[in-house]
Amino acid sequence: MKTLLQGGTIVTAADIYQADVLVDGEKVALIGKGLPVSGAKEIDATGKYVIPGGIDVHTHMELPFGGTFASDDFETGTIAAAFGGTTSIIDFAVQSFGATLTSAIEAWQKKARGKAAIDYGLHCIVRELDDERLKEMDELVDAGVSSFKLFMAYPGVFMVDDATIFKAITRTGENGGLICMHAENGGVIDVLIKKALKEKHTEPKWHALTRPPEAEGEATNRAFRLAEMAGRLPLYIVHLSAAQALEQVRLFRDRGLPAYAETCPQYLFLSYDNYEEPGFDGAKYVMSPPLRPKWHQDELWKGLARNDLQVVSTDHCPFCMTEGYQGLPKQKQLGVGDFSKIPNGAPGVETRMVLLYDGGVLGERITLNRWIELTSTTPAKLFGMFPRKGTIAVGSDADIVVWNPKTTSTISAKTHHMRVDYNPYEGKQVKGKADVVLSRGEVIVDEDKFVGKKGRGRFLKRGSPILQT
Ligand code: URP
Ligand code: ZN
Ligand code: ZN
Repeated sequence: MKTLLQGGTIVTAADIYQADVLVDGEKVALIGKGLPVSGAKEIDATGKYVIPGGIDVHTHMELPFGGTFASDDFETGTIAAAFGGTTSIIDFAVQSFGATLTSAIEAWQKKARGKAAIDYGLHCIVRELDDERLKEMDELVDAGVSSFKLFMAYPGVFMVDDATIFKAITRTGENGGLICMHAENGGVIDVLIKKALKEKHTEPKWHALTRPPEAEGEATNRAFRLAEMAGRLPLYIVHLSAAQALEQVRLFRDRGLPAYAETCPQYLFLSYDNYEEPGFDGAKYVMSPPLRPKWHQDELWKGLARNDLQVVSTDHCPFCMTEGYQGLPKQKQLGVGDFSKIPNGAPGVETRMVLLYDGGVLGERITLNRWIELTSTTPAKLFGMFPRKGTIAVGSDADIVVWNPKTTSTISAKTHHMRVDYNPYEGKQVKGKADVVLSRGEVIVDEDKFVGKKGRGRFLKRGSPILQT
């Protein structure tokens, strides 16, 4: 099956140029001006951008958290991702206490297989690390699970100590994996939470008030120091939200260390003020790290423009506000009367590309090329998928989005495809839209319709990070 994308403007991390793209089977076969149709299905991309599919390296489909599960599964979440122009995700498999890392991966494969509509990779969240698990890390890297998340927060649930972090980072120096760090000082946060609850502060805003940006700055510094002591090894900070943490990334990068970090749209477009919304509505934004005062946004945008931040992911982890939505159980409401029981996380897998295009490119904060670099190319490089994913080049997977730069729409839970009953950006007007989405050569979204199949997404066996950036 051949498809010819005609007359569009190809945008990659490096180039902007007018050319046709011929897709043969799952791959890009030819790029050139005026390519002959010769039996191919034609897609008219005139006046539109032809971009590599988005890669979201931070999602949590069906994540168990605080007595419930994230409301999107691999079917609903990946279809929503496709509507937004994302064609690959990397989700987090969680090691159970007393269990192997391999069993975590098997459990997540079971959640994904037969459901994922786009290609998916897996990171492994490590909660316990004895000698056997260290050996398992090597095996997972060989099996294509080449990244591991560790937590410096959530004591008793996810948090690991510095010795564990040090051992894990050291091991990646030998096996070619990459450690992704949730950097918040969990011990300090726990003290602050207990104090707030004792003083009867129960509303959602106290989630943010008990997780100060300094707790993120301190943990980020400690994480990079540990990576430095392990032999100046690469380390990737996930969901960076605060200027204090960014300052540390910059410091270590300026000193020549392989220090990397992602931020997420919520930290660029939302702020602490959202927690002040009436009633229990602040719970919509309960995520960790929390939203910060507005001035942090400018710092993060500067970080993106100057490459101190290299990736924009979503940390997509939706929980419903109302019990019973599409048959789902009580989720955010578990924390009515106690902010510390509100499941942490918010939806975003569908809106990442458009928010970054509208607020970033059209807002003149980043260039068109940088938009692609942040949302597709660097994610592919850092997580071992480049050049198969993350660019439009002969031989690459034909994960391609025909992006209409002119369409204006209003973000709303009424029209989004994520299985969650609210949208953090409700009512926001944005320009730009994924008109047609191809995943490995197959059209899966065509003008507001999902035309792919659930379960067609394949597991992405990933390699070691490419650390040039
Ligand atoms: O609040 C968040 N971020 N929930 C998902 C888990 C995590 O820490 O990434
Ligand atoms: Zn995290
Ligand atoms: Zn996360």
